[in-house]
Amino acid sequence: MGNLLAGKKGIIFGALDENSIAWKVAERCFEEGAEFILTNAPIAMRMGAVNALAEKTGSEIIPCDVSVDADMENLIDQAMAKYGKVDFILHAVGMSLNIRKKKHYTDLNYDFMHKTLDISAMSLHRLLKTCYEKDAINNWGSVVSLTYIAAQRVFPDYNEMADAKSLLESITRSFGYHYGVRNKVRVNTISQSPTVTTAGSGVSGFNSFIDYAEKMSPLGNADALACADYCVSMFSDLTRMVTMQNLFHDGGFSYTGVSEAVMEKFGSQE
Ligand SMILES: NC(=O)c1ccc[n+]([C@@H]2O[C@H](COP(=O)([O-])OP(=O)(O)OC[C@H]3O[C@@H](n4cnc5c(N)ncnc54)[C@H](O)[C@@H]3O)[C@@H](O)[C@H]2O)c1
Repeated sequence: MGNLLAGKKGIIFGALDENSIAWKVAERCFEEGAEFILTNAPIAMRMGAVNALAEKTGSEIIPCDVSVDADMENLIDQAMAKYGKVDFILHAVGMSLNIRKKKHYTDLNYDFMHKTLDISAMSLHRLLKTCYEKDAINNWGSVVSLTYIAAQRVFPDYNEMADAKSLLESITRSFGYHYGVRNKVRVNTISQSPTVTTAGSGVSGFNSFIDYAEKMSPLGNADALACADYCVSMFSDLTRMVTMQNLFHDGGFSYTGVSEAVMEKFGSQE
């Protein structure tokens, strides 16, 4: 396509299979001229799908469990050995043990919850802290994480991930402040429409919820490719004054109170 990211180097977390949002982001970044490292949890690597993406985009794969300090250190050290400093990072990581084990929100297991918060939210702090200490991101670099509107409004089936996303968005603001002051590094979250992926499909009632969101959004649901385009714009120099924001990428869902398409489902009240 173009060369919006020509000369830029990055790290992309979270490409599990071709449905992953991170997979699409990697493909689009490659098309726009970027070079990057692909990373995921060692256990996810064993599934092997990411090798095809690495081949297609000429990328190296470096495993990293985002909940392990030593893994994060190793990843950033290796990225710096390869590139010097990086220009962009995509954090597209999420996992809820309580959802996996079908625990209701009113009956959470706290060992599971610790793990969920660690992997899905504190991992962003761990990533930013490691980069900050090692001075691993170029001035005006851009870090993007993916989040969901359940951080602001209640979607009961989203369970403890709502709390994880609230923390993720808070870390984005708090670390975004410090990294902005020191290095002009930008940190933002993109709040994406429900999207059919492995993580997304783990949420119960997901399919009917996708249909509901589609009807509630003036533009319809944003798909993974559109999300990838938005990530590219956030990694580019065209958005260099945007930081510490939660950016809704949802076809207008977040500001729609009710839509005619949804009202029709309930029939006329007249
Ligand atoms: N799919 C949706 O509806 C939707 C909507 C809004 C936001 N998001 C967010 O988008 C991001 C990407 O998810 P996705 O929907 O592409 O699903 P996905 O399942 O393809 O991606 C989730 C990734 O997290 C990785 N991961 C889990 N535990 C890890 C660990 N300990 N260390 C390193 N990586 C680990 C998985 O291996 C996987 O690659 C997540 O943060 C998710 O919450 C998804």
